[in-house]
Amino acid sequence: MNGLAGQTALVTGVGSGIGRASALRFAEEGANVVVADIDVEGGRETVDLIENAGGDATFVEVDVSDTASVERMVDATVETYGSLDFAHNNAGILTDFVETTGISEANWDRIVEVNLKGIWACMKAELPAMERTGGGAVVNTASEAGLVGMGGLSSYSASKHGVVGLTKSVALEYAERDIRINAIAPGPTKTNIQSGIVGDSGGTSILGRIRSVVGTVRMALRTLRADFDTSAMRDVPMGRIADPEEMAGAVAFLCSTDASFVTGTTIPVDGGQAA
Ligand code: NAI
Repeated sequence: MNGLAGQTALVTGVGSGIGRASALRFAEEGANVVVADIDVEGGRETVDLIENAGGDATFVEVDVSDTASVERMVDATVETYGSLDFAHNNAGILTDFVETTGISEANWDRIVEVNLKGIWACMKAELPAMERTGGGAVVNTASEAGLVGMGGLSSYSASKHGVVGLTKSVALEYAERDIRINAIAPGPTKTNIQSGIVGDSGGTSILGRIRSVVGTVRMALRTLRADFDTSAMRDVPMGRIADPEEMAGAVAFLCSTDASFVTGTTIPVDGGQAA
């Protein structure tokens, strides 16, 4: 892909899934990669995978919902490699299926803090560093749930709609400053995100808990999602779920010079779901 070799890429949420595939792809294209995650073991495994394939990677522990931690991550990137050229802000969490009235405040806050505030915190630290070192490109991971509503996942969907709006707005601010800002909206992808779901007990009140349980059962009955893979495949016009590498391809394109006139957009990578 044009323009990636010899550059420095920072990828968050690399402990598994889409972030890991993206980091591996940047390395394959000849970029130096800073891989960042709250999961130290998973992040270090990604470094090993990149190094075993002959690439150059450095792990930084980060909690993207903590602005000080994010600033340290960006400082470490520039200290290690001298510049920051590309950022894939990808770390995210999913919640379980609960109707809106059953969502606890703590669950709402955590989803928004990681999925939306986390992307803002990353860009707040990354954009000045990119500007200082000659421009660059940012790709944020949104979701299909950022383009359409999803009953039972309203906090997740709201956070991802936020990522789409944030991407558009920040792209306008930087359009004349040599930094392009785009997003991808993955459809169902084979990753660990289902196992990392943030459970919601509905808070501490008995009523909250009852609402949560009722909401969960209702949503489960309504969607009849006995098996994520099978139900997700039924919803995808292409009839299958994605491999994380297919997301990495879109990220590499958006960072490459082949996308030199693309900014402020969200590309659905979803087998036709948004069509
Ligand atoms: P994953 O669970 O395999 O990877 C997410 C990574 O983010 C993990 O390594 C986790 O440790 C890290 N992470 C979580 N909280 C963090 C925090 N506070 N600070 C730093 N790192 C943190 O899941 P996947 O699927 O690869 O998810 C990546 C992104 O793709 C997420 O933003 C997710 O919402 C999005 N997405 C995933 C879809 C799917 O079907 N897998 C569909 C649409 C969007």
